Amino acid sequence: MTTELKNDTLIRALLRQPVDRTPVWIMRQAGRYLPEYLKIRTEAGSFMNLCQTPELACEVTMQPLRRFKLDAAILFSDILTIPDVMGMNLYFEEGKGPKFANPITSSSDIHKLPRPDVGESLAYVMDAVSMVRRELDGKVPLIGFSGSPWTLFTYMIEGGSSKTFSKSKKLIYQEPALAHMLLAKLADTVTDYLNLQIESGAQIIQIFDTWGGVLCARAFKEFSLRYLTRIVSGLKRENEGRRVPTILFCKACNTQLEALADTGCDALGVDWTISLREARERVGSRVALQGNLDPAVLLADPETIHREVNHTLTSFGKAQGHVFNLGHGITPDVKPEHLGALINSVWELSPAFH
Ligand code: CP3
Repeated sequence: MTTELKNDTLIRALLRQPVDRTPVWIMRQAGRYLPEYLKIRTEAGSFMNLCQTPELACEVTMQPLRRFKLDAAILFSDILTIPDVMGMNLYFEEGKGPKFANPITSSSDIHKLPRPDVGESLAYVMDAVSMVRRELDGKVPLIGFSGSPWTLFTYMIEGGSSKTFSKSKKLIYQEPALAHMLLAKLADTVTDYLNLQIESGAQIIQIFDTWGGVLCARAFKEFSLRYLTRIVSGLKRENEGRRVPTILFCKACNTQLEALADTGCDALGVDWTISLREARERVGSRVALQGNLDPAVLLADPETIHREVNHTLTSFGKAQGHVFNLGHGITPDVKPEHLGALINSVWELSPAFH
């Protein structure tokens, strides 16, 4: 496996070093908006089978790179592989999102959850990482990822997706010690999992805290931020003689940007509800920023996309430390040509900002 990296624009931007254009990658760049993904997904039979077969996960990771001039690959997997190997047995019901065959129904179920040996139970993820690195052959860096302890906790306690987060919130308010026990176990597991991904070849790490924004400011600090900080300080920061940048993406957490910038991460992913100008003013030169086009812009025509890309670049302004991305994942109803238009616009317009 080569350790040479032909395009290190993304790593440089994440470390706030000079670049000649703004790098771009897209959250959920491999997925259901691509017909070639849907084909493999059907052949694989289930989403889990796709994740658990390294050859298929590798193929799906590479698909968007064949179509678009992206500055990174992101490993094809899911954040819920961790609860799966803690014994909850994940499955996806068509149109209903994630579910668990062994849901949590009592406090004693929480006590019984093990700290899994992810080197063993998630070896298929590490195999996919090594395979993608070989396939990439140093073309662009590979991003590894995990969910945050709080976000994993919500899926585990709710038994799937939720609109109200009632069970998770009741637990943190009524039984904080029990909640902390599980969150600490998740934080240690996530740290092991990410360090193994780095050792297997992941060159950048992103942590998704998709549901941090449902907590009040005080609870966010106690039940999410504390564990994000613990993970960031436990991560291996260098591999193959290169810094491994860490990105924290906390959706709907814009009131917490300063605190997030103090976790020791290299970059913050921001959603579309804040202007990059304001975000930059608030975090200063501590971290790079990634984002933050509204994913719905991709439903509009290419001229509109071009105009909105220009707004996003202008909002960040002429400075170091911007990574172009959406403010959340691309949705399945987007036409692939529209994503192509976005990426071409970033390549065309961004050199003027450097
Ligand atoms: O970004 C990428 O291209 C890498 C792959 C990736 C997936 N999930 C593939 C996936 C990543 C980084 C994730 C992260 C993830 N998974 C998050 C955090 C990011 C975010 O979007 O907030 C969350 C909350 C999950 C949990 C999850 N996985 C849900 C809620 C669902 C169901 C989504 C739905 O709309 O049905 C999934 C399944 C999933 N993960 C799909 C993909 C491509 C679709 C499943 C399918 O093909 O049937």
